[in-house]
Amino acid sequence: MTAPTPAIEVRGLEKSYGRRRVLEGIDLTVHEGEALVILGGSGSGKSTLLRCLVGLERPDAGAVSLLGRDIFTAAPRELADLRQRIGMAFQSGALFGSMTVAENLELPLVEFSHLPESTRRIIVRIKLALVGLEGTEALRPSQLSGGMKKRAAFARAMALDPEILFFDEPSAGLDPVTAAGLDRLLLSLRDVFGATLVVVTHELNSAFAIADRIALIHAGSVLITGTPDELRACQNPIVRRFLDREAEPGPEHEGRLRELILGSEAPDG
Ligand SMILES: Nc1ncnc2c1ncn2[C@@H]1O[C@H](COP(=O)(O)OP(=O)(O)O)[C@@H](O)[C@H]1O
Ligand SMILES: [Mg+2]
Repeated sequence: MTAPTPAIEVRGLEKSYGRRRVLEGIDLTVHEGEALVILGGSGSGKSTLLRCLVGLERPDAGAVSLLGRDIFTAAPRELADLRQRIGMAFQSGALFGSMTVAENLELPLVEFSHLPESTRRIIVRIKLALVGLEGTEALRPSQLSGGMKKRAAFARAMALDPEILFFDEPSAGLDPVTAAGLDRLLLSLRDVFGATLVVVTHELNSAFAIADRIALIHAGSVLITGTPDELRACQNPIVRRFLDREAEPGPEHEGRLRELILGSEAPDG
Protein backbone atom coordinates (compact mmCIF):
# COMPACT_ATOMS: atom_id res chain seq x y z
CA MET A 1 0.00 0.00 0.00
CA THR A 2 1.33 3.46 -0.83
CA ALA A 3 1.29 6.23 1.75
CA PRO A 4 -1.61 8.69 1.37
CA THR A 5 -0.80 11.92 -0.48
CA PRO A 6 -0.16 14.65 2.08
CA ALA A 7 -2.54 17.61 2.01
CA ILE A 8 0.42 19.97 1.69
CA GLU A 9 4.02 19.37 0.75
CA VAL A 10 6.60 22.16 0.81
CA ARG A 11 10.14 21.65 -0.42
CA GLY A 12 13.08 24.05 -0.32
CA LEU A 13 10.99 27.21 -0.26
CA GLU A 14 13.03 30.41 -0.45
CA LYS A 15 11.86 34.01 -0.48
CA SER A 16 13.68 37.31 -0.19
CA TYR A 17 12.46 40.90 -0.21
CA GLY A 18 15.31 42.89 -1.68
CA ARG A 19 18.34 41.84 0.34
CA ARG A 20 16.26 40.56 3.25
CA ARG A 21 16.19 36.76 3.12
CA VAL A 22 12.95 35.78 4.82
CA LEU A 23 12.56 32.10 3.93
CA GLU A 24 15.81 30.20 3.49
CA GLY A 25 14.65 26.72 2.62
CA ILE A 26 11.36 25.66 4.20
CA ASP A 27 10.48 21.96 4.16
CA LEU A 28 7.11 21.01 5.56
CA THR A 29 4.57 18.23 5.22
CA VAL A 30 0.99 18.62 6.41
CA HIS A 31 -1.06 15.43 6.67
CA GLU A 32 -4.67 15.23 5.69
CA GLY A 33 -7.04 16.13 8.54
CA GLU A 34 -4.39 17.37 10.95
CA ALA A 35 -4.15 20.76 12.62
CA LEU A 36 -0.68 22.11 11.97
CA VAL A 37 0.41 25.30 13.69
CA ILE A 38 3.24 27.35 12.23
CA LEU A 39 4.76 29.09 15.21
CA GLY A 40 7.45 31.73 15.19
CA GLY A 41 8.41 35.13 16.49
CA SER A 42 7.18 38.36 14.99
CA GLY A 43 8.87 38.96 11.61
CA SER A 44 10.03 35.34 11.27
CA GLY A 45 8.27 34.96 7.92
CA LYS A 46 5.08 33.16 8.93
CA SER A 47 2.73 35.32 6.86
CA THR A 48 5.13 35.21 3.92
CA LEU A 49 5.15 31.42 4.10
CA LEU A 50 1.36 31.30 4.26
CA ARG A 51 1.05 33.56 1.22
CA CYS A 52 3.42 31.25 -0.67
CA LEU A 53 1.38 28.21 0.39
CA VAL A 54 -1.82 29.58 -1.10
CA GLY A 55 -0.16 30.94 -4.22
CA LEU A 56 -0.59 34.63 -3.38
CA GLU A 57 3.15 35.10 -3.43
CA ARG A 58 5.70 33.48 -5.71
CA PRO A 59 8.77 32.10 -3.95
CA ASP A 60 12.27 32.55 -5.40
CA ALA A 61 12.87 28.82 -5.23
CA GLY A 62 11.16 25.66 -4.05
CA ALA A 63 7.88 23.86 -4.60
CA VAL A 64 4.48 23.78 -2.95
CA SER A 65 2.02 21.04 -3.61
CA LEU A 66 -1.57 21.25 -2.40
CA LEU A 67 -3.77 18.15 -2.51
CA GLY A 68 -1.22 16.48 -4.74
CA ARG A 69 -0.75 19.31 -7.27
CA ASP A 70 2.24 21.58 -7.66
CA ILE A 71 0.70 25.05 -7.46
CA PHE A 72 3.45 26.82 -9.38
CA THR A 73 3.35 24.53 -12.40
CA ALA A 74 -0.39 23.77 -12.43
CA ALA A 75 -2.48 24.85 -15.41
CA PRO A 76 -4.90 27.74 -14.83
CA ARG A 77 -7.87 25.37 -14.77
CA GLU A 78 -6.22 23.19 -12.17
CA LEU A 79 -5.46 26.26 -10.10
CA ALA A 80 -9.05 27.43 -10.28
CA ASP A 81 -10.15 24.00 -9.12
CA LEU A 82 -7.64 24.09 -6.25
CA ARG A 83 -8.73 27.57 -5.24
CA GLN A 84 -12.23 26.21 -4.60
CA ARG A 85 -10.88 23.50 -2.35
CA ILE A 86 -9.03 25.79 0.06
CA GLY A 87 -10.28 28.52 2.37
CA MET A 88 -8.34 31.26 4.08
CA ALA A 89 -8.75 33.97 6.65
CA PHE A 90 -5.95 36.49 6.83
CA GLN A 91 -4.69 38.71 9.58
CA SER A 92 -5.67 42.03 8.06
CA GLY A 93 -8.28 43.18 5.60
CA ALA A 94 -10.44 40.22 6.47
CA LEU A 95 -13.81 41.68 5.50
CA PHE A 96 -14.85 44.30 2.97
CA GLY A 97 -16.18 47.23 4.94
CA SER A 98 -18.49 48.45 2.20
CA MET A 99 -20.40 45.17 2.11
CA THR A 100 -22.77 43.57 4.60
CA VAL A 101 -21.74 40.43 6.46
CA ALA A 102 -23.91 38.33 4.13
CA GLU A 103 -22.40 39.90 1.01
CA ASN A 104 -18.91 39.23 2.35
CA LEU A 105 -19.76 35.56 2.90
CA GLU A 106 -21.36 35.27 -0.51
CA LEU A 107 -18.28 36.51 -2.35
CA PRO A 108 -16.54 33.13 -2.78
CA LEU A 109 -19.87 31.52 -3.69
CA VAL A 110 -20.53 34.11 -6.38
CA GLU A 111 -17.00 33.82 -7.71
CA PHE A 112 -16.48 30.07 -7.63
CA SER A 113 -19.91 28.42 -7.73
CA HIS A 114 -22.89 28.54 -10.02
CA LEU A 115 -25.36 28.30 -7.17
CA PRO A 116 -28.57 30.35 -7.44
CA GLU A 117 -29.03 33.24 -5.05
CA SER A 118 -31.60 31.41 -2.93
CA THR A 119 -29.12 28.59 -2.28
CA ARG A 120 -26.31 31.05 -1.57
CA ARG A 121 -28.50 32.72 1.05
CA ILE A 122 -29.11 29.40 2.78
CA ILE A 123 -25.39 28.56 2.79
CA VAL A 124 -24.58 31.98 4.25
CA ARG A 125 -27.11 31.41 7.02
CA ILE A 126 -25.70 27.96 7.82
CA LYS A 127 -22.11 29.20 7.94
CA LEU A 128 -23.02 32.14 10.17
CA ALA A 129 -24.81 29.78 12.54
CA LEU A 130 -21.71 27.56 12.66
CA VAL A 131 -19.64 30.45 14.00
CA GLY A 132 -22.35 31.74 16.33
CA LEU A 133 -23.28 34.81 14.27
CA GLU A 134 -26.93 34.10 13.52
CA GLY A 135 -28.89 37.14 12.43
CA THR A 136 -25.92 39.35 11.55
CA GLU A 137 -26.47 39.11 7.76
CA ALA A 138 -27.42 42.76 7.28
CA LEU A 139 -24.75 44.27 9.53
CA ARG A 140 -21.61 45.99 8.28
CA PRO A 141 -18.21 44.80 9.56
CA SER A 142 -17.87 48.10 11.46
CA GLN A 143 -20.86 47.09 13.56
CA LEU A 144 -19.14 43.89 14.74
CA SER A 145 -16.73 43.45 17.63
CA GLY A 146 -13.16 42.28 16.92
CA GLY A 147 -14.03 38.69 17.83
CA MET A 148 -17.19 38.75 15.69
CA LYS A 149 -15.22 40.03 12.69
CA LYS A 150 -12.86 37.10 13.04
CA ARG A 151 -15.81 34.71 13.24
CA ALA A 152 -17.31 36.20 10.10
CA ALA A 153 -13.96 35.79 8.33
CA PHE A 154 -13.86 32.13 9.45
CA ALA A 155 -17.38 31.67 8.06
CA ARG A 156 -16.34 33.18 4.73
CA ALA A 157 -13.28 30.93 4.60
CA MET A 158 -15.64 27.96 4.92
CA ALA A 159 -18.15 29.11 2.35
CA LEU A 160 -17.10 26.50 -0.20
CA ASP A 161 -16.58 23.64 2.31
CA PRO A 162 -12.83 23.66 1.74
CA GLU A 163 -10.55 20.68 2.28
CA ILE A 164 -7.76 22.87 3.63
CA LEU A 165 -8.29 25.92 5.84
CA PHE A 166 -5.53 28.52 6.30
CA PHE A 167 -5.60 31.05 9.12
CA ASP A 168 -3.13 33.81 9.83
CA GLU A 169 -3.04 34.88 13.49
CA PRO A 170 -6.70 34.00 14.09
CA SER A 171 -6.78 35.36 17.63
CA ALA A 172 -4.19 38.14 17.51
CA GLY A 173 -5.16 41.39 19.15
CA LEU A 174 -8.10 39.95 21.05
CA ASP A 175 -8.57 39.57 24.79
CA PRO A 176 -7.54 36.14 26.15
CA VAL A 177 -11.09 34.90 26.69
CA THR A 178 -12.20 35.82 23.16
CA ALA A 179 -8.96 34.39 21.78
CA ALA A 180 -9.46 31.08 23.59
CA GLY A 181 -13.04 30.95 22.26
CA LEU A 182 -11.77 31.41 18.70
CA ASP A 183 -9.20 28.65 19.18
CA ARG A 184 -11.96 26.27 20.29
CA LEU A 185 -14.12 27.38 17.38
CA LEU A 186 -11.32 26.59 14.91
CA LEU A 187 -10.98 23.08 16.27
CA SER A 188 -14.71 22.46 16.18
CA LEU A 189 -14.84 23.68 12.58
CA ARG A 190 -12.04 21.30 11.71
CA ASP A 191 -13.99 18.47 13.34
CA VAL A 192 -17.24 19.38 11.58
CA PHE A 193 -15.62 19.64 8.15
CA GLY A 194 -12.82 17.10 8.55
CA ALA A 195 -10.62 19.72 6.92
CA THR A 196 -6.87 20.05 7.20
CA LEU A 197 -6.04 23.11 9.29
CA VAL A 198 -2.97 25.32 8.95
CA VAL A 199 -2.77 28.07 11.52
CA VAL A 200 -0.04 30.67 11.76
CA THR A 201 0.47 32.27 15.14
CA HIS A 202 3.07 33.81 17.40
CA GLU A 203 0.99 33.08 20.49
CA LEU A 204 2.05 30.03 22.44
CA ASN A 205 -1.26 29.50 24.20
CA SER A 206 -3.08 29.36 20.89
CA ALA A 207 -0.47 27.14 19.31
CA PHE A 208 -0.59 24.56 22.07
CA ALA A 209 -4.40 24.69 22.25
CA ILE A 210 -4.92 24.11 18.54
CA ALA A 211 -2.07 21.98 17.27
CA ASP A 212 -1.80 18.30 16.52
CA ARG A 213 1.69 19.27 15.41
CA ILE A 214 3.68 22.47 15.65
CA ALA A 215 6.33 23.64 13.18
CA LEU A 216 8.61 26.19 14.78
CA ILE A 217 10.10 28.65 12.30
CA HIS A 218 13.43 30.21 13.11
CA ALA A 219 16.00 31.99 10.92
CA GLY A 220 14.13 31.26 7.72
CA SER A 221 13.65 27.54 8.11
CA VAL A 222 11.69 25.01 10.12
CA LEU A 223 13.76 24.47 13.25
CA ILE A 224 11.64 21.61 14.54
CA THR A 225 8.27 19.93 14.02
CA GLY A 226 6.60 17.91 16.70
CA THR A 227 3.50 17.37 18.78
CA PRO A 228 2.93 19.85 21.61
CA ASP A 229 4.29 17.24 24.05
CA GLU A 230 7.39 16.69 21.94
CA LEU A 231 8.05 20.43 21.88
CA ARG A 232 7.53 20.76 25.62
CA ALA A 233 10.11 18.03 26.16
CA CYS A 234 12.56 19.38 23.56
CA GLN A 235 15.89 20.49 24.98
CA ASN A 236 17.13 22.40 21.93
CA PRO A 237 18.28 25.71 23.44
CA ILE A 238 16.62 27.86 20.76
CA VAL A 239 13.32 26.03 21.22
CA ARG A 240 13.64 26.37 25.00
CA ARG A 241 14.38 30.07 24.77
CA PHE A 242 11.38 30.60 22.53
CA LEU A 243 8.98 28.56 24.66
CA ASP A 244 10.18 29.77 28.04
CA ARG A 245 10.28 33.42 27.10
CA GLU A 246 6.86 33.27 25.53
CA ALA A 247 5.42 31.36 28.45
CA GLU A 248 5.87 34.33 30.72
CA PRO A 249 2.96 36.69 30.24
CA GLY A 250 4.37 39.83 28.66
CA PRO A 251 3.22 43.36 29.46
CA GLU A 252 0.79 43.27 26.55
CA HIS A 253 -0.83 40.15 27.95
CA GLU A 254 -1.02 41.64 31.42
CA GLY A 255 -2.62 44.74 30.02
CA ARG A 256 -5.30 42.69 28.36
CA LEU A 257 -5.90 40.65 31.49
CA ARG A 258 -6.17 43.81 33.56
CA GLU A 259 -8.68 45.22 31.17
CA LEU A 260 -10.67 42.04 31.37
CA ILE A 261 -10.67 41.89 35.15
CA LEU A 262 -10.98 45.58 35.95
CA GLY A 263 -12.79 46.86 32.88
CA SER A 264 -11.36 49.21 30.31
CA GLU A 265 -11.72 52.24 32.59
CA ALA A 266 -9.29 50.87 35.14
CA PRO A 267 -6.90 53.60 36.31
CA ASP A 268 -3.25 53.27 35.36
CA GLY A 269 -0.57 52.24 37.83
N1 LIG B 1 5.78 42.60 0.81
C1 LIG B 1 6.91 42.76 1.53
N2 LIG B 1 7.89 43.60 1.10
C2 LIG B 1 9.02 43.73 1.82
N3 LIG B 1 9.28 43.11 2.98
C3 LIG B 1 8.34 42.29 3.47
C4 LIG B 1 7.10 42.06 2.76
N4 LIG B 1 6.37 41.17 3.47
C5 LIG B 1 7.11 40.87 4.55
N5 LIG B 1 8.29 41.53 4.55
C6 LIG B 1 9.36 41.40 5.56
O1 LIG B 1 9.63 40.01 5.70
C7 LIG B 1 9.83 39.68 7.07
C8 LIG B 1 8.85 38.62 7.49
O2 LIG B 1 7.54 39.16 7.47
P1 LIG B 1 6.25 38.31 7.79
O3 LIG B 1 6.19 37.14 6.89
O4 LIG B 1 5.10 39.24 7.77
O5 LIG B 1 6.57 37.82 9.29
P2 LIG B 1 5.57 37.29 10.42
O6 LIG B 1 4.25 37.01 9.78
O7 LIG B 1 6.23 36.06 10.96
O8 LIG B 1 5.49 38.35 11.46
C9 LIG B 1 9.72 40.98 7.84
O9 LIG B 1 11.00 41.49 8.03
C10 LIG B 1 8.91 41.86 6.92
O10 LIG B 1 9.23 43.20 7.14
MG1 LIG C 1 2.32 37.72 10.19
